[in-house]
Amino acid sequence: MKILIEELNINGEGLSYIDGKKYCVKGVLTGENVDVLEKSEKRNFVDTKLNKIVHPSPIRILSKCVWCDKCGGCDFMFADEKNALKVKKNIIKNYFLDFFSKEIITHSSKNNIHYRNKVSFAVNGDKIGLQKKNSNEIVEVDECLVAKNEINMVLKIFREYLGKTQNSTINHLVIRAVDNYVSVVLVCKITPKNLDFCAKKLECAFGNRFGLFLNFNTSKNKILGDKWQYVCGQKEICSKALGINFFVKPHSFLQINDDVRDKLYNRILREIDGGVVIEGYSGAGLLSAVMAKKAEKVFAVEINKTASLDAEKTKIENSLFNLENINGDCGLLLPKLVKKFPNATFVVDPPRSGLDKNIINAIINSDVKKVVYISCNPYTLKQNIYLLKDKFEVVNFEIFDIFPQTFEIESFVVLNRK
Ligand SMILES: C[S@@+](CC[C@H](N)C(=O)[O-])C[C@H]1O[C@@H](n2cnc3c(N)ncnc32)[C@H](O)[C@@H]1O
Repeated sequence: MKILIEELNINGEGLSYIDGKKYCVKGVLTGENVDVLEKSEKRNFVDTKLNKIVHPSPIRILSKCVWCDKCGGCDFMFADEKNALKVKKNIIKNYFLDFFSKEIITHSSKNNIHYRNKVSFAVNGDKIGLQKKNSNEIVEVDECLVAKNEINMVLKIFREYLGKTQNSTINHLVIRAVDNYVSVVLVCKITPKNLDFCAKKLECAFGNRFGLFLNFNTSKNKILGDKWQYVCGQKEICSKALGINFFVKPHSFLQINDDVRDKLYNRILREIDGGVVIEGYSGAGLLSAVMAKKAEKVFAVEINKTASLDAEKTKIENSLFNLENINGDCGLLLPKLVKKFPNATFVVDPPRSGLDKNIINAIINSDVKKVVYISCNPYTLKQNIYLLKDKFEVVNFEIFDIFPQTFEIESFVVLNRK
């Protein structure tokens, strides 16, 4: 059947409303007339599969990547670069209209391709590539268009290695590239053979600017396990951003787009005055260090032990003795800090699951005046804003295009006490 796409939802799916039913289809743009095939219907919600674009949007383009329809990585390669961020802005604007009706400012990425500083490739025998969405199937790729060039160089080395060794113990290859350093993690069940081959090839390509690690994982539910082994090269990536020399091990979180990360951190910095900052979910601590240069005192809470150690190293390297890195659970620690420092500015950047209810209650019942909330998931962000809405109002909403070529977006929200 033919439908007209009226709007896109926060997952980037096109919606059409006909006779009280909501039709949903992936891979389309607002205003397009498309032919769809019905997959399933449940309580007036009809899930469909795109059959043909009958009348394309003027901003539709042919994807630059030959694998993007198959691999689960980039789900938004079909709009031109000038308009893609406008489309995402409209999705966010409509979704948050009840809480913010002013103009949403957008921050674009300097690079729309070759921007990702980290990619996890799936491995099975001599097959290596990207995983199909919601499937274990591997889509073999020669290169990933959104990955930095160094990552594609490492991919080539490991394709050769896997072809030679027929290794059945490796499940994933996780590569991070920052500032010409690469860290390479082989996720495996037992130590793979012929690691010397990889080490030599990496040395040839990157000199001493690489680190090789093993991560042991037998679980299928997550990519990385808890057991790590350092093999050779540099034990961590050392880089400089926003005036801070920082360190990050492969175990720690780092924003995946260096350029947009810096823009986001600079924007957060504008919300910081000379007082106390309580930062939750602080990762490897680059943002904490940047804020510590301006604030009187920064408390940074992070649950990952290695990330907290990275943050501590960064603190010492930059002589930031007003920064206190605390390793622990934000759900337990942030409510305590809020009680002790009621006038602090609260900065949080939680994982996709959003803020713990304890934290929301602690903020509501405290004297905190301002919350700066960074979110990679509009759905949980909206739920959390809803819970805060009686005491706080959204005074600023901006979006940062950390993930070009996908529908993912990073939101920056400032909430002030009413
Ligand atoms: C989206 S990242 C943000 C990191 C950091 N703000 C940055 O820009 O690099 C979320 C971080 O929260 C940490 N995390 C997840 N759950 C946590 C919890 N309950 N308590 C403290 N940290 C947590 C993760 O380890 C991760 O480093």
